[in-house]
Amino acid sequence: MKILVTGGAGFIGSAVVRLAIARGHQVVNLDALTYAACLDNVAPVADSPDYAFEQADIRDRAALDRILAQHRPEAILHLAAESHVDRSIDGPGTFIDTNITGTYTLLEAARSYWQAEGRPAAFRFHHISTDEVFGSLPADPAVKFTETTPYDPRSPYSASKAGSDHLVRAWHETYGLPVVLTNCSNNYGPYHFPEKLVPVIILNALAGKPLPIYGDGSNIRDWLYVEDHADALLLVVQKGAVGRSYNIGGENERSNLDLVRTLCAILDDLRPKASGSYADQITFVTDRPGHDARYAIDPTRIREELGWRPSVTVEEGLRRTVQWYLDNPAWWQALQSRHGVGERLGVTA
Ligand SMILES: NC(=O)c1ccc[n+]([C@@H]2O[C@H](COP(=O)([O-])OP(=O)(O)OC[C@H]3O[C@@H](n4cnc5c(N)ncnc54)[C@H](O)[C@@H]3O)[C@@H](O)[C@H]2O)c1
Repeated sequence: MKILVTGGAGFIGSAVVRLAIARGHQVVNLDALTYAACLDNVAPVADSPDYAFEQADIRDRAALDRILAQHRPEAILHLAAESHVDRSIDGPGTFIDTNITGTYTLLEAARSYWQAEGRPAAFRFHHISTDEVFGSLPADPAVKFTETTPYDPRSPYSASKAGSDHLVRAWHETYGLPVVLTNCSNNYGPYHFPEKLVPVIILNALAGKPLPIYGDGSNIRDWLYVEDHADALLLVVQKGAVGRSYNIGGENERSNLDLVRTLCAILDDLRPKASGSYADQITFVTDRPGHDARYAIDPTRIREELGWRPSVTVEEGLRRTVQWYLDNPAWWQALQSRHGVGERLGVTA
């Protein structure tokens, strides 16, 4: 299959690019190379004859038209987005521009291309979204996000992703564009940009710095290893029903405090300190404004209809992740000087 991946130099997009090439697909990686991008993420496949890179912005219609006409993909996996909730609190405008206007521009370019190609039924526009569009759950473990949970986004980031989800569904209903959508829980794994919780904790721990926990650390997230997410996305784009959405999650709910303690225990094992535990560095800091209490995915639909299951437990995935950061200091050291990395963002609501 020839796939155009938007945002393929980011965290999840690059995992999709690497896995798709490994499975024999042809990939065109379209990325604007914002602060969150790193072409080293795709270095393992960059020399493949099946790989091409196009630096372009999803808001640039002329560039999109040229790239689609030139490469003629059979599917678009749309991951390009502004993705950091804390940055969306400080500067929501970029999130509206990229996540809503950018998705609209890409949808229009895809629609023109699909129509010019004779409306092939097998074409797919796969929109990759987040569970954060569903809002915040109560503590009751029986209550989880399903595909029919009403949208209730509560941060500028999740509101902009919700807007993009609605546009994608509208382009299917109105123009017949063959779309599929996925809403996934929190990812972690190799190549995670060092402003997100898991890498922040690993890298601060190694540097002997405080391990910042927002509020009291009781906020619950449902963690999925990024390579399992990439596997699910390649399954949905090939086997998912047109117009349908699929929730993707690892059924691994952890409070932020538990997650950080687990990371500290793994680090204590793999890179012991001279004395004490990395957990001694845990520090509670001012909470994020509007911090959602709990996210949890019910993945019944993707499991029963498409047969997908995650391949690793959260314990195994976190261990692999910590080991990857220990083995790849050159990768993360190069990113630590990027604007805003290492600073506390999103506190001034
Ligand atoms: N990280 C998570 O836990 C998670 C969970 C569920 C869904 N998602 C969704 O998955 C997608 C990828 O997330 P991620 O964590 O890999 O993000 P990321 O921030 O690591 O990567 C985003 C990529 O998109 C590119 N990009 C940004 N604006 C662009 C534009 N205007 N034009 C072209 N490229 C642009 C960036 O350069 C970067 O390479 C996003 O749509 C996000 O909403 C993320």
